[in-house]
Amino acid sequence: MTISEILEKLNNKKIGVLYGGLSSERTISIKSGKAVLNVLKKLKLNVCGIDVNRNIAEEIKKEKIDIAYIVLHGPMGEDGAIQGMLEVMGIPYTGCGIFSSAASMDKDISKHLFKYVGILTPEWKTLKKFEAVPEIKKYPVIVKPVSQGSTIGVTIVKNDSQFVEAAKKAFKYDKEIIIEKFIDGKEITVGVLNGKALPLVGIVPKGGFYDFKSKYQKGGSKHIIPARISKKAYKMAQNSAEKVYKIFKCKAICRVDMIVDKNDKVWVLENNTIPGMTETSLVPDEGRAVGYNFENLVLKIIESAL
Ligand SMILES: Nc1ncnc2c1ncn2[C@@H]1O[C@H](COP(=O)(O)OP(=O)(O)O)[C@@H](O)[C@H]1O
Ligand SMILES: [Mg+2]
Repeated sequence: MTISEILEKLNNKKIGVLYGGLSSERTISIKSGKAVLNVLKKLKLNVCGIDVNRNIAEEIKKEKIDIAYIVLHGPMGEDGAIQGMLEVMGIPYTGCGIFSSAASMDKDISKHLFKYVGILTPEWKTLKKFEAVPEIKKYPVIVKPVSQGSTIGVTIVKNDSQFVEAAKKAFKYDKEIIIEKFIDGKEITVGVLNGKALPLVGIVPKGGFYDFKSKYQKGGSKHIIPARISKKAYKMAQNSAEKVYKIFKCKAICRVDMIVDKNDKVWVLENNTIPGMTETSLVPDEGRAVGYNFENLVLKIIESAL
């Protein structure tokens, strides 16, 4: 559909922007949610914001929305839970469905899927609470919760003695953690809109590690579009991202995080089914580079619920 066709279809519909939520990425989701809400209000559409809590089903009924625009991050928003609830309620929603959301939120399952279709992903082991710690032959490793986002609970571990603290931190957020080979290289990310890869963003975090602070603090990291990597790696990354969109059966949008090492190998870390949507987030930056302003990007995402 063209942008004007989408707008026409939205004419007699009430859109509920679902933001906030119950995960540790709540504050980020509020920011994204407000940005989406503002743009829809500016377009004079019938829209309301709904801060998601345990009473979400009642709120939705009270507001009588026809479409849900989901801008939630992390567990209970990006993992298929809200998506499942909306399916039961018969309310169309934006973006990825239950399977894509659940599979992408679980980094262990995701990595098995990447591997299965020949996408490079760093070697890893998983560890559940109270299980014996597997032998770590080579440091550094990355320790992270299986189901989280925004680099919450993630640590670069350089030796055995640092491991315990890192594992404790990751276990705060999940019952299962990942111990993954550390890949030294350039961090990139690529959004996929309706199956087609957007331009790659190169990420240069100010402090060296792309942690929570450098993700969300003003000036915390630099976005370089297009990313400065070889043509071969660029193509490979876009190719892998489109493959991820396809095998995870994504809808409308996803964003795939990767690292390009010094041998030009492209390692896929994870898939995000509800990428950040503040005006300065990665995907809106990528969209702008191919002529989608923030408003049109939001409308293209809404199209998936029509
Ligand atoms: N295997 C790895 N090697 C190097 N850096 C990594 C690795 N895994 C994660 N990181 C770093 O940690 C950040 C967060 O990890 P990621 O897997 O993207 O989880 P999330 O973004 O969901 O928290 C990445 O953006 C990257 O900077
Ligand atoms: Mg990530």
